[in-house]
Amino acid sequence: MNSSSDSSKQCVASPFRWYGFNKLGDFRGALTSIESEIDTPFPIKRVYYLYYTLPQIRRGFHAHKTLQQILVCITGQCKVLLDDGNVREDIQLSEPNLGLYVDTMVWHEMYDFSPDCVLLVLASDHYQESDYIRNYADFMSAVKGMKQE
Ligand code: TYD
Repeated sequence: MNSSSDSSKQCVASPFRWYGFNKLGDFRGALTSIESEIDTPFPIKRVYYLYYTLPQIRRGFHAHKTLQQILVCITGQCKVLLDDGNVREDIQLSEPNLGLYVDTMVWHEMYDFSPDCVLLVLASDHYQESDYIRNYADFMSAVKGMKQE
């Protein structure tokens, strides 16, 4: 497992963005709709979701070269570690109408899933293993390379 253990990078001003989605509620309950390119900064090409995640499980441990994603915890709660190579931040997700944007080249790990957690992910592209950076040292080298360009 490629764990990222450097805790020296702490957030001062967060570079990580939220997307607020509508909450159309009435006496029957709530409804949130997310429309591709209207409510998202990219066309949604793929939707997947994590659920039934066991306690103590930490997953993710990668960054993407080109993929953008928005994470929405539609039921329950979980935490996400985001690390862009400069700023590292642990973020709680628990609101079904709030999406956390995960840009390209952001290392992410998901953890502390409640038993009922359903983590919905909106993605800008189809699944491509070649888009993954799954080693933290490789990720940091790529970030440093980008800075020197
Ligand atoms: P994995 O990358 O291990 O998930 P996580 O990053 O959350 O730990 O994905 C688990 C498996 O599912 C792996 O075999 C790849 C596959 N997969 C798809 O086929 N399509 C997808 O959209 C995703 C996200 C994963």
